[in-house]
Amino acid sequence: MERTFIMIKPDGVQRGLVGEIIGRFEAKGFTLVGLKSLSVSRELAEEHYDVHKERPFFGGLVDFICSSPVVAMVWEGDGVVASARKLIGATNPLSAEPGTIRGDFGVSVGLNLIHGSDAIETAQKEINLWFSEKELLSWEPTV
Ligand code: CMP
Repeated sequence: MERTFIMIKPDGVQRGLVGEIIGRFEAKGFTLVGLKSLSVSRELAEEHYDVHKERPFFGGLVDFICSSPVVAMVWEGDGVVASARKLIGATNPLSAEPGTIRGDFGVSVGLNLIHGSDAIETAQKEINLWFSEKELLSWEPTV
């Protein structure tokens, strides 16, 4: 079954949007198979955003992700990678559609609340980076 990595960034946690964001994934019918709150090390943030390491915003982005706790999650379901990106909305909240998480609550490209994997292969890499095998559940809803 397809899985994706979702992180509620420090701005989402500080603004009290954790419940709202989790609720949107639950309402869509996806299954939560991993969840933890953590303070991110510089090493983890740099590895996670390695693809952006040459960009001018890289240092500020890493500083921000490490500045206060995040909520890291793994969600499972058919087509969850692409569907989660739709729920989240465009990277810049000013361009994100109303009804998406960033469109409804995001402030700026630097304060866009949430990260979601951009492809199935990236999701696998990010899940392995953020979670150990023991931290992930294997279950299916029965009700
Ligand atoms: P995310 O989906 O986590 O992936 C990369 C992040 O880089 C992105 O969300 C933004 O938060 C951040 N980002 C992209 N462009 C900029 C920018 N111009 N200035 C600051 N942050 C940016």
